Amino acid sequence: MALWSGRFTENVSEFTQRFGASLPVDKALYAQDIAGSKAHARMLGAQGVISLEDVELIVAGLDRIQARIEAGEFVFDINDEDIHMSVEKALIADIGEAGARLHTGRSRNDQVITDTRLFAKQRATDLMQANAALRHALVEAAEKHFDVILPGYTHLQHAQPVFLSHHLLAYAWMFARDFKRLAAAREAADVCPLGCAALAGTTYPLDRRATAADLGFSDVTANSLDTVSDRDFLLDLSYAASVSCVHLSRLAEEIVLWSTAEFGFITLSDAFSTGSSIMPQKKNPDFAELIRGKTGRVVGDLVALLITLKSLPLAYNKDLQEDKEGAIDAARTLEDCYTCMAGMISTMTVNADAMRTQVDKGYLAATDVADYLAKKGLPFRRAHEVVGHLVLLCDQRGCGLEDLSLDDFRAESDLFEADITGALDAVSIADARVTEGGTGRQVVKEQLELVKQALSIDEQAI
Ligand code: ARG
Repeated sequence: MALWSGRFTENVSEFTQRFGASLPVDKALYAQDIAGSKAHARMLGAQGVISLEDVELIVAGLDRIQARIEAGEFVFDINDEDIHMSVEKALIADIGEAGARLHTGRSRNDQVITDTRLFAKQRATDLMQANAALRHALVEAAEKHFDVILPGYTHLQHAQPVFLSHHLLAYAWMFARDFKRLAAAREAADVCPLGCAALAGTTYPLDRRATAADLGFSDVTANSLDTVSDRDFLLDLSYAASVSCVHLSRLAEEIVLWSTAEFGFITLSDAFSTGSSIMPQKKNPDFAELIRGKTGRVVGDLVALLITLKSLPLAYNKDLQEDKEGAIDAARTLEDCYTCMAGMISTMTVNADAMRTQVDKGYLAATDVADYLAKKGLPFRRAHEVVGHLVLLCDQRGCGLEDLSLDDFRAESDLFEADITGALDAVSIADARVTEGGTGRQVVKEQLELVKQALSIDEQAI
């Protein structure tokens, strides 16, 4: 029999029972549900709504239930709709009348969203931790491979030489922004719904602020109708997770690309690679591919929730029961992806020679040759054209700019002098880019300090 059986003469069918239940998903929230119930009971006692003896019985009973769940001894009844029903039913079975008083001045509508907010706060915190760990891995890799030079790309075509440290730190900044989004999602979750009851508040003299403080919430919600139907904090968490997964997928894509025979820039450790059941030679970057692939489900979780919320009238609607599965999945997926990516980055081998070989192809010095002329007074647009001709000449001869003679250069412009060879050296070219945020090692060093500073400030905020 359901906890609301008073008004009913017939039970739902087995099918509708299963269709309507959220227990398989929300049993993951048992600890939050029990914490919320204990805080509610303590407040009811303090306000004289129930006796202090009942509070004691309720709290002890809830602790026993939690211990049974954690010991794997609690048998979840598939006939219970959700975790709130399971816990309350078990409590009443254990302590009788006192247990039946727990739900005074409360509805599952404010209860479920209290549990979910507590859960979201915890998961956002876990994700901030995992995010920081990944950023540590990137910082360490940037330090280890500080001087390695590789082609920088636009359109996936050779553009200008950059340092690998600079390239890796680009990702560290993406994940630093994601950290802020996760922190904002945690803050959005940090208000206590208890006391809003089903939709309109309650006639009992509840002390909402006491319950909120007991549960570690910073504030209470301001409008009961909004409270029981608001899932924005889950959207925030799912959005933060989606953006971060998109960032992970970009890094994953480069890892996949860089591990190909064509690139050969990195070799993943065996611990982060798999073989083929038929082709003995294969070493596949499965885990990078999987991170790239999992982005789809996390973005899907966000879109599903947005659409679930669209057009919902106030206040609680059963549609809202669909909110948790995606958010739980998004958080778990992102956490795993962070952990996997950190491991992959920390253990990969960087093939600096392969990167260097590519630096010497593709006329990476072209911009700097044009700058050489512009610095001697030729308008940049003209210089661009001159170097375009030189590149064409190289293309026809199948050589690089560095293979041209001074006469070749001077045939295009008499501003070229013997020092042009200095404009062709990739390391000097990269090092010369010392504008703030540029790839010159002198400024990458400063950038590295900024990344570390941001990381340590963020870690203190976890
Ligand atoms: N299982 C429900 C959920 O997850 C709990 C709230 C149910 N409230 C209701 N009025 N049916 O949303």
